[in-house]
Amino acid sequence: MYTSIKTLAAAVALPLVAALPLSQRAEAAFDSTKPFTLHTEVANGTSALNNLYLTSFHVGAAQNTVVGSANSSQAIGWTLSDSILQQPIALQGAPAGFAYNLSLPLAAPYGSDAPSGYEIVSLGVTGVATTGFYFKDSALAWSGSNATTAPKAFDGCFAVCQVNGTAPYFTLGRQFQLFWKENNASTSSHCADVKLVGANLA
Ligand SMILES: *[C@@H]1O[C@H](CO)[C@@H](O)[C@H](O)[C@H]1NC(C)=O
Ligand SMILES: *[C@@H]1O[C@H](CO)[C@@H](O)[C@H](O)[C@H]1NC(C)=O
Ligand SMILES: *[C@@H]1O[C@H](CO)[C@@H](O)[C@H](O)[C@H]1NC(C)=O
Ligand SMILES: *[C@@H]1O[C@H](CO)[C@@H](O)[C@H](O)[C@H]1NC(C)=O
Ligand SMILES: *[C@@H]1O[C@H](CO)[C@@H](O)[C@H](O)[C@H]1NC(C)=O
Ligand SMILES: *[C@@H]1O[C@H](CO)[C@@H](O)[C@H](O)[C@H]1NC(C)=O
Repeated sequence: MYTSIKTLAAAVALPLVAALPLSQRAEAAFDSTKPFTLHTEVANGTSALNNLYLTSFHVGAAQNTVVGSANSSQAIGWTLSDSILQQPIALQGAPAGFAYNLSLPLAAPYGSDAPSGYEIVSLGVTGVATTGFYFKDSALAWSGSNATTAPKAFDGCFAVCQVNGTAPYFTLGRQFQLFWKENNASTSSHCADVKLVGANLA
């Protein structure tokens, strides 16, 4: 009864792939030219911060930060355009194809209890769009040599921290907020370095 999983996998690998529904086959071959969701895979730190789906969190007019949710239905759709991560949105009066840009300013999140060296991730209409992103298979990667607009202390590292609310809605209580990590920032038990993994929207 207890057939080794390895043997079983080898025996059924090909017919299984052929039989997969389209949605799962698409996941196997990630295509960054099509819209996708992003979720965390902890590279260093507590596994409690694994599999959080990135979603936008409104902090001001046309201005959001990025938080993680375990509920994949709350994931926002992203596109990659000229090495910039964007969230396409339908906004009344906006030109066709309007999208918010991901921007990584050298700034601490306003009023947050995130550790020092963990800086705000901004998604909206203000701030300079950060360039240099691409995908290595389905994992988001970043090339310093191609980035003309990234802060000096960014080396491609993102982190998720458990914070006690996000400005201006501290009363919401505990949240998982995405930050970019300065290259000299310390580790924190509230945080984990994360890989961001893409999966195409069905
Ligand atoms: C995790 O972070 C610690 C502290 O910075 C570091 O010593 C260790 O090498 C890191 N591990 C990995 C796998 O990156
Ligand atoms: C997940 O999010 C969706 C969309 O916001 C919501 O309808 C659903 O109730 C949520 N599920 C759970 C378990 O919170
Ligand atoms: C997004 O960034 C691009 C490239 O810098 C810029 O042309 C565009 O205006 C930005 N979009 C918004 C909504 O800020
Ligand atoms: C960097 O930019 C060059 C020129 O546009 C491009 O050919 C190359 O693929 C880019 N590298 C990465 C890692 O995105
Ligand atoms: C958030 O508040 C809780 C309860 O007061 C506390 O245990 C935790 O350390 C706080 N988290 C941070 C990041 O300060
Ligand atoms: C990291 O470098 C910045 C800029 O040089 C400095 O202001 C900051 O204190 C440093 N942080 C740590 C934890 O060393």
